[in-house]
Amino acid sequence: MSSKAKFQAIRGTRDLLPPETALWNRVEQTAHEVFRTFGFGEIRPPIFEPTELFARAVGGETDIVSKEMYTFAVTDLTRLIAWRDFVSSTRKIRDLDELDAYERSLSYLHREVQAAVKNGQVPDDGESQNSIVRMKRAMSIAGAALVEWRKMDGTAKFEELDEDVKDAGIAAASIRVGEEISLRPEATASVCRAYIEHNMQQLPQPVKLYYMGPMFRRERPQKGRYRQFYQIGAEVLEAVRPDAGRDAAKELAKDATVDAEVIEMLMTFFGRLQLEGTELSINSIGHAAENCRRGYVEKLRGELNRVKDKLGADSQRRIETNPLRVLDSKLEHEQGIIAKLPKIADHLCDDCQTHYAELKRQLELRGVKYVENWRLVRGLDYYMRTTFEITAKGLGSQNAVCGGGRYDGLVELLGGPPTKGIGFAIGEDRLILSLQEGGKGSVAEGRDVYVAWLGANAYATAIRAAKSLRSAGFSVELPPTEQKFGKALERASKLGARFALILGDNEISSGEWALKALGTGEQIKIAEADLPAYLKEHQ
Ligand code: HAM
Repeated sequence: MSSKAKFQAIRGTRDLLPPETALWNRVEQTAHEVFRTFGFGEIRPPIFEPTELFARAVGGETDIVSKEMYTFAVTDLTRLIAWRDFVSSTRKIRDLDELDAYERSLSYLHREVQAAVKNGQVPDDGESQNSIVRMKRAMSIAGAALVEWRKMDGTAKFEELDEDVKDAGIAAASIRVGEEISLRPEATASVCRAYIEHNMQQLPQPVKLYYMGPMFRRERPQKGRYRQFYQIGAEVLEAVRPDAGRDAAKELAKDATVDAEVIEMLMTFFGRLQLEGTELSINSIGHAAENCRRGYVEKLRGELNRVKDKLGADSQRRIETNPLRVLDSKLEHEQGIIAKLPKIADHLCDDCQTHYAELKRQLELRGVKYVENWRLVRGLDYYMRTTFEITAKGLGSQNAVCGGGRYDGLVELLGGPPTKGIGFAIGEDRLILSLQEGGKGSVAEGRDVYVAWLGANAYATAIRAAKSLRSAGFSVELPPTEQKFGKALERASKLGARFALILGDNEISSGEWALKALGTGEQIKIAEADLPAYLKEHQ
């Protein structure tokens, strides 16, 4: 970049600026207030964590983890990483030049990995040794092919190498170099990690936490979708009591009640902000057991395989990796097919059915309106039973303003004790957009008072006046240089000030200050001591 080139915020990121940031503050302040009334305390986890935490919690096959994370290796083996990434991202070889470059990269990589294993920078374990052997094999095949095909004239069949290229790619990708960290794509995993790390199961249960802050996903940017975006989220975590199994029905009802209260809190928050056109969708996706979700998923996979040819590439792939996600598809031509698929509600086990029925009853008790959506499966792997999403107005295709659900077992999956969990995350960027579109985004702008002063005498008084008004909570603009009164009033109007306090020699000597309401043009005389009360009255 030349020294004159202008810098711009990176694609998918943006500056939040005043006056809009005042709305962000209002939203966040409302969250602090509402969540406190439900007994939640704030947690501020770090912005980066080990990649493995997200891979294990959110799921290695999910879009978020497999495609969208910003991941960094904390190591000085930069050359090794560059070769590794080149080899692991090579899928096909199309001509001799590519084969030549590929063969050389592979042998550099092979040499670097061997050296790194020798000096302990790459673990000397079975996995690394296996990668080295596979890379060596691919290297000799590519080397032999190179010699062979150099002799031929454009008749080489490069696809003969496809399988070996693929295998070497997988072997290269599995080389672990130092510690890998990722910018957080979400915060539920971090909250669970913190619950374990700080032994929160020893605190009175459940532990109710909320957070707000930036998350990072490398998605295709569009309205309401950013690469750095902000979430306001909350999680309720509860260690499973040893006697929990004794009265299963009671336990299920309690869980459903917790779910409903979390959703009630969310709707209270949206209500307080006067967010318009919200719609809460709920579903139950059962739990992992054979006679519940696992059984359903198998059935779904079977049905999907029968219509495989009619599905798009993503859905075809998901039949193997995660058939539930096919239900989520927005592809026009798949809608008719999906409508005829078996529904999970017809396959829930007794416990999941009891829990779901109680959830609906508890929502009704609280006056929370909902619609049921059997296709609501969510894009993260940790959910069980309750899933929910809220859409709001004015957001176009990215209209989910909040998503959440229950995730019993996630803490255990991360190495903690058996623990239940339920939570949600609101997309704050989308919430703000929707508030603005609905005309609920205005925030008081401008200053309360512009101090128009003239003369050295008046300046000392102006400083005193600004100090006392600011300490009374008013926003005050005190110009650093003196201005003719006409000019000062002009600037005060431009800044949107409500009042101009006029301090010249006359006002100082008489002790009667002049206060002009810029909206009406009305001007009064007022004593210094009476000013704060007057401003408060005329807010
Ligand atoms: P999620 O559905 O991935 O869930 O994200 C929650 C919300 O974050 C979405 O509904 C959306 O409003 C917002 N969001 C997601 N990606 C973007 C983006 N690229 N740009 C702008 N907004 C976005 C979770 O993250 C879970 N951790 C929620 C949860 C908490 N479940 C249980 N506890």
